[in-house]
Amino acid sequence: MEKITNSDKVLLLGKSDFLVDVSKGLFHTNHGTINLSKLVGKKFGVKIKSSKGELFYVLRPNINDFLDKRLARLPQIISLKDCSLIAGYTGLSSGYRVVEAGTGSAFLTTFMANLVKPDGKIFTYELRTDFFKSAKKNIDDSSLSAFIDAKNKDVSKGFREKDVDLVVLDMIGAEKIVSKARKALKSGGFLVVYSPYIEQVKVVCAAIEMESFVDVRTIECLVRDYKITRDFSRPNTTMLAHTGYITFARKV
Ligand SMILES: C[S@@+](CC[C@H](N)C(=O)[O-])C[C@H]1O[C@@H](n2cnc3c(N)ncnc32)[C@H](O)[C@@H]1O
Repeated sequence: MEKITNSDKVLLLGKSDFLVDVSKGLFHTNHGTINLSKLVGKKFGVKIKSSKGELFYVLRPNINDFLDKRLARLPQIISLKDCSLIAGYTGLSSGYRVVEAGTGSAFLTTFMANLVKPDGKIFTYELRTDFFKSAKKNIDDSSLSAFIDAKNKDVSKGFREKDVDLVVLDMIGAEKIVSKARKALKSGGFLVVYSPYIEQVKVVCAAIEMESFVDVRTIECLVRDYKITRDFSRPNTTMLAHTGYITFARKV
């Protein structure tokens, strides 16, 4: 089992969960102060007590812990369930070269970078400088920046990348980028458009129809959690009902 160093990030699982840098030293929470320096040299999986006697499990964080607990959110992100479908339906994996717009909070960017490493790359475009700066901080914090080329540019002015495996668009006016996406894609590559509104899906699908794409489909994903007890079990009463529609198309 690997030992914790001062340059690690750790996931603390307790009454509340946190993802923190060990180098922070003292970490103050509502459940007491945690002395992180005591963790150096210990194995991931150990337990640590706060000054109030609360117990925390210390784990090595994965990408989902980073996305959930650490990534700062400015524009609306693509939720993990939808990111997962984008990866699953396009076969996103090591070596893929991807063009993305807009970067937004870099949630999807870092999710994809974790899958395309070590040989692939995400080329991501963000129009707004304030969002770009915040996204760049998230990217640097993710330890995945070597696999991400982030640009503070308007994607509608075009992009230089060619023979890419995937173009993902999550931005207003995505329909205007469809023909540029087709030119950048390799044969067999995927276009994915994420649209919060069904009216956007209709204009995007009309633009896709004008180009050489096949296997066009639009889906949405509803995830329902269950409350399981020894007596009666049922779906939770509340759920995230709508996030967005995902349209897939393949270049031929
Ligand atoms: C909903 S956010 C993207 C969120 C991102 N998918 C995530 O998971 O964090 C949409 C972003 O597209 C950007 N955008 C809009 N038009 C653009 C353009 N022409 N070029 C580049 N970015 C653009 C917006 O500024 C905004 O940050």
